[in-house]
Amino acid sequence: MQNSKIRKYTRIYAQIEKLLRQCSEPLARMATINAVLYHKMTSFSWVGFYLLTDNQLIVGPYQGPLACQVLEKNKGVCWAGINEQKVIIVPDVHAFPGHIACDSRSRSEIVIPVWNKNGEIAGIMDVDSRSKDNFDTIDGAELERICKLVYA
Ligand code: SME
Repeated sequence: MQNSKIRKYTRIYAQIEKLLRQCSEPLARMATINAVLYHKMTSFSWVGFYLLTDNQLIVGPYQGPLACQVLEKNKGVCWAGINEQKVIIVPDVHAFPGHIACDSRSRSEIVIPVWNKNGEIAGIMDVDSRSKDNFDTIDGAELERICKLVYA
């Protein structure tokens, strides 16, 4: 089970890595990553990026249902990932204090910080699932590897 998941991410990483050679623009890269992940990972109900702009988290490219455009400062999972500068896995969104429910069907979530070329935090990738406990440390490590391609 875990091995097949790693194998799937390995294939997806190779596909994304190849696609991103076409263009180094981070927004185009984020959009491409979202499209591949959203359509290949069937348990992902929303995949996207929130960008840190003027100390606000503003929605960037995404795939899935309509999302909040601005996230209330220092509230919810995305801001926790930014403030703690680390991957955060939330097995049950209802048990996460301050969770911001853009889509009420979302049950679990993972966020991955994205760093620019200067080593500054540029934003965060957010992935939602309608299944509880959908994400583990394999997702964390593999999505981190994919996020590193945005500003590579
Ligand atoms: N749940 C996130 C907000 C973004 S949506 O899930 C797309 C949060 O708590 O920060």
